[in-house]
Amino acid sequence: MEKIVVAAHKGGSGKTTVAVNLAGAFANLGMRVLLVDTDPQGACAAALGITQGKPTLYEVLMGQAQRQEAIVGTSVPGLSLLPSDLDLAGAEVELPKLDNWHQGLGRVLISLESVCDLAIIDTPPGLGVLSYSAFNAATGALVTCPPEFMAFRALPHLQEMTDRAGVPLLGIIPTMATATTRHAREVMEQLNSQYANLVLPAIPRRVALQDAALAGLPITSFEPSSDVAERFMALAREVLSRGKNLAA
Ligand SMILES: Nc1ncnc2c1ncn2[C@@H]1O[C@H](COP(=O)(O)OP(=O)(O)O)[C@@H](O)[C@H]1O
Ligand SMILES: [Mg+2]
Repeated sequence: MEKIVVAAHKGGSGKTTVAVNLAGAFANLGMRVLLVDTDPQGACAAALGITQGKPTLYEVLMGQAQRQEAIVGTSVPGLSLLPSDLDLAGAEVELPKLDNWHQGLGRVLISLESVCDLAIIDTPPGLGVLSYSAFNAATGALVTCPPEFMAFRALPHLQEMTDRAGVPLLGIIPTMATATTRHAREVMEQLNSQYANLVLPAIPRRVALQDAALAGLPITSFEPSSDVAERFMALAREVLSRGKNLAA
């Protein structure tokens, strides 16, 4: 089972949008997908129209609940969610007090190998305890990068993090891509010239993605014939061909 962490150390880089919609696209390809939210903001549940309940990832990581009690189904066939809520913010302090805490999420995911083909792990901004746990659990990483210099300049830090965790970087996803400003065009050019082979199909800036989140659906369910839904399907296929352990 491939476990793909979606990371970027800036907030607002399109991580959650990519994690939710890519998970939806993989489910559309017929895979059994678990989306894991390691961000205390709990945005994955909101974007999938799921009202928060207990237990969540926090209780599972702290050994207070079984993973099967926390995992919920979604309206998309094949897609389940291991949600988070604000309590997970406490895990930044409490988790490191547990033995082998950095392997906790990995153990949870390994125990799901027989019922899941793929896990997509959404991460909080920053490279703290929760992101570290996510990297430790992952078998591959995707990094999101909007066409802004500040996001672009952070890419070497993410490469260092994936190297240190021994997780192959499957690719960089240009998010909120637009060619309407010179700055955006310049950053895209630099991205393509410096990271050529790592650059994956870009996700354009589209209000439909925000409407889909409001409706609680991945774009592939909300507006399946839109260009951005097709982009997510293309992205899913490309990631499949890059992840060595992924089976379609
Ligand atoms: N491709 C896109 N087109 C339009 N809006 C987007 C796109 N990607 C993200 N957004 C919006 O930008 C904001 C931040 O995106 P989000 O995915 O939550 O980033 P992160 O998880 O990195 O903080 C959200 O309001 C989201 O709806
Ligand atoms: Mg997010």
